[in-house]
Amino acid sequence: MIHEIASDIYYVGINNRSKELFESLWPVPSGVSYNSYLILDEKVALVDACDLNMIQEYADQLENLLNGRPVDYLIINHMEPDHSGAIKMLRQMYPDMKIIGNLKTFGMLKGFYSIEDNLHQVADGDTLTLGKHTLRFILTPMLHWPETMMTYESTTETLFSGDAFGCFGALNGNPVDKNIDTTPYWDEMRRYYAAIVGKYGIPVQTALKKLKDIPLSRICSTHGPVWEEQLADAIAAYDRYSRYEGEDGVVIAYGSMYGNTGQLAEKIAEQLSRRGVKKIIIHNVSVSEPSQILSDIFRYKGLILGAPVYNNALFPKMESLLMDIRSRQIANRVYACFGSYVWTRNALNRLSEFGNEMKWKSATVHVCQECSCDLRSQDGCVQLASSFTDLLNGE
Ligand code: FEO
Repeated sequence: MIHEIASDIYYVGINNRSKELFESLWPVPSGVSYNSYLILDEKVALVDACDLNMIQEYADQLENLLNGRPVDYLIINHMEPDHSGAIKMLRQMYPDMKIIGNLKTFGMLKGFYSIEDNLHQVADGDTLTLGKHTLRFILTPMLHWPETMMTYESTTETLFSGDAFGCFGALNGNPVDKNIDTTPYWDEMRRYYAAIVGKYGIPVQTALKKLKDIPLSRICSTHGPVWEEQLADAIAAYDRYSRYEGEDGVVIAYGSMYGNTGQLAEKIAEQLSRRGVKKIIIHNVSVSEPSQILSDIFRYKGLILGAPVYNNALFPKMESLLMDIRSRQIANRVYACFGSYVWTRNALNRLSEFGNEMKWKSATVHVCQECSCDLRSQDGCVQLASSFTDLLNGE
């Protein structure tokens, strides 16, 4: 898709609607866009590229727009191969093209593509004039790789932000928010954040502080819409996620081999509802897709986890969720847990210890049922919901 987004700045990104798993991990049922931008000035600069598997369509599109002009600079904000995969081919198409990146970019450029020549290394705050347009480079390490940086074009107040503010979902006909229905992209921004950026809350906060005083008319991420009208909402969302600030609501995520632990989840949800909790999301971890569970955990401040014992340890799908949560260092949650056992209780011990490990506010009551959901365990659900809602309401 080619679309002029600002004076002589063109969107030249590509949709991939056949990819099933982004990073071979995360489902993208609505596809994904690899956003790339071309600045036509006295010098021609390309900002970020695309995945190798989309190279032909991408190259044809560039050549059509350039009409015989070469690319003078390729700015690499991020080296992950969904954006850098096209670099070798671009070098063949435009042999004199200088590659702009920082010290860490170039280590990866050599490692991935054996490219070591015709490079221009930039540091935080360095500028590059193309003619009318001037670029400033803003280093934003660990957002979400060590080399990540952003590029700011000052005459149009355009920020090329790399993966930051990006989302899953291909673009349908137009890249700019004001020209499309952005409704589906907001959930996909949170899911993208939860899956890919979620571990890096502190680097995101550092980056947001760097951007605070920079006038912005648009944010051009490497995935999803160009944010203009809803630019402030995109920044606010990133601020919220990176502070691990949860909305009112509770996620109950459970594993259940034969439905007995699942019954506890339903009973607890019922009791939460009786105590006025309106937003309750229930995930069976054997069925729900992990990035969707993580996305909801990022969204809501209440979290209740439950699982049975399996092989004298925690149900494996729940153990996997714990690993996903821990690796993202999700903070500031109100927590409770429940579980089932037949001959050893250690699954619940594991879940209980996990709340302490994460330094969450934990309810004083957990439920641990033996074999099936009897009257005693149902009463436990009442007690758990009471203790949990007190904590949730700050009592
Ligand atoms: Fe879209 Fe981190 O690559």
